[in-house]
Amino acid sequence: MEFKFFNTSLTNESILVISMFESEKIENILTIKFIDNLDNLNSIIKQVNQVVSTEAFQAKTAKILSVPLYGLTDLKKIIIYGLGDKTKINNTTYRKFGANLARLCFNKHLNLAVLVQTETINNSLNIQTFTEGFILSSYKFEKYKQIKEEKQSKTQLISFYGDFEPGSNLVESTNIGLTIASAVNMAKNLINEPAINMTPVIFADYAQDLALKSNLNIEILTVKEMKELNMNCILAVGQGSKNEPRFVVLRYQGENTKMNYGLAGKGITFDSGGLSLKPPLSMEYMKYDMSGAAIVLAVMQIVAWFKPKFCVTAVMPLAENMPGGNALRPGDVIKSMSGKTIEVNNTDAEGRLVLADALYYLQKLGVSEIIDIATLTGGVLTALGRASCGVMSNNQDLCNRINSISNLAGEKVWQLPLFEEYKEGLKSDIADLKNAGSRGEAATSSAASFLQEFVNDIPWLHFDIANVGWSDKDKEEITKGPTAYGARLIAYYLIDQNKN
Ligand code: BES
Ligand code: MG
Ligand code: ZN
Repeated sequence: MEFKFFNTSLTNESILVISMFESEKIENILTIKFIDNLDNLNSIIKQVNQVVSTEAFQAKTAKILSVPLYGLTDLKKIIIYGLGDKTKINNTTYRKFGANLARLCFNKHLNLAVLVQTETINNSLNIQTFTEGFILSSYKFEKYKQIKEEKQSKTQLISFYGDFEPGSNLVESTNIGLTIASAVNMAKNLINEPAINMTPVIFADYAQDLALKSNLNIEILTVKEMKELNMNCILAVGQGSKNEPRFVVLRYQGENTKMNYGLAGKGITFDSGGLSLKPPLSMEYMKYDMSGAAIVLAVMQIVAWFKPKFCVTAVMPLAENMPGGNALRPGDVIKSMSGKTIEVNNTDAEGRLVLADALYYLQKLGVSEIIDIATLTGGVLTALGRASCGVMSNNQDLCNRINSISNLAGEKVWQLPLFEEYKEGLKSDIADLKNAGSRGEAATSSAASFLQEFVNDIPWLHFDIANVGWSDKDKEEITKGPTAYGARLIAYYLIDQNKN
């Protein structure tokens, strides 16, 4: 896939794509600047206007009109894409445009598209989000299919054509969009892998490859090393599986060593529930329970590319939650790395266990603030549906920053409380706390309150993405299956922090 600017000559393979706001006129967009033969230009405009009126096309958001040219020019055809009401344009408009256009090109086997600029796509942010949407929605996972559709119909080239804001670095903009979307797609690949092929060891190998390619510092802790460090929660969760746990630490070193952003991602490569076994329907998609770790890895790939001034340290606790003969039992007590003891009343509340050690370890490494991301509770689906993920934080300022960047990233967040009352529900009779509160009571906030027990006075924010980490349909830039929701948001957040 290639993106180009200006220098495209239209051929009979070219599709001319024109985006249009409601009540805009084609003659104001398609001018002599683009089609230099006046006769051709006039006959195209006439043809477009005819189809626009017979189809009563109004350029409403995401509406598409295909205009055949019957040999009027060399062009294959013209596609008009509706951007809707001009006053309602926002940061998601162009991401959706890119995403919808990619699907159209794929379905119609169009391999070359030329985009004519309207006055609004001429800025770099719009080019960036357009590119991002295009690459994100082009994602296919066909590794295990005998017949691969992707090979046959993939768009080769998008050429942007038109007047651009002076001084805008368009190549750079497509590169940012491309980098973000490719990293997200990489995470989706890891999540899509069946759990048998994405064990903690295999995940750690992927992280190692990435570290080598991207010049990041990596440490992979084995069971022996984790024992020495007392990472007993992660070991306990992993002990029922034949596939050993691992702990990955990935570091990016910027010039400013005083600021170190900490990231943690839940990496349960399969969540059977352990001895508190899940029913079959709830287990079906549980290979996605390492989404948090994959997302953190994707963010590090982006970080390695944009090379911020500050440092970023990412940890990925990796384990498989299985009910093997040596499995953790309900009633067992674990001494976590922090020293706090935990009575395990439900082995299916394993995510918070591995994160407890991960959060504690990040603080030992001396990070300045922490963001963790996890497919942590089914309750977040009950609370929010699939409209946004849940965020919880001990620091309102950090939460506000994430909230304000979420518009730009196109990933919505909704804050849920961390009331003191939830801590009551986690009291144990025999240990410092238990890992699961009462069923059906504020499950998402309760899980986050458990995590908070392992965070000292440091700004911390937790994403629960269990509701949005998997999609049952293609929609705009989201593809069916794993979404890696939150990767974009964290990446945009760090990019924004680098501007300070
Ligand atoms: N990985 C699951 C979260 C999950 C549940 C994701 C359902 C998608 C759908 C997590 O480990 C889990 O099992 N959470 C339990 C916690 C409970 C036992 C306190 C849950 O949410 O039911
Ligand atoms: Mg579980
Ligand atoms: Zn889980």
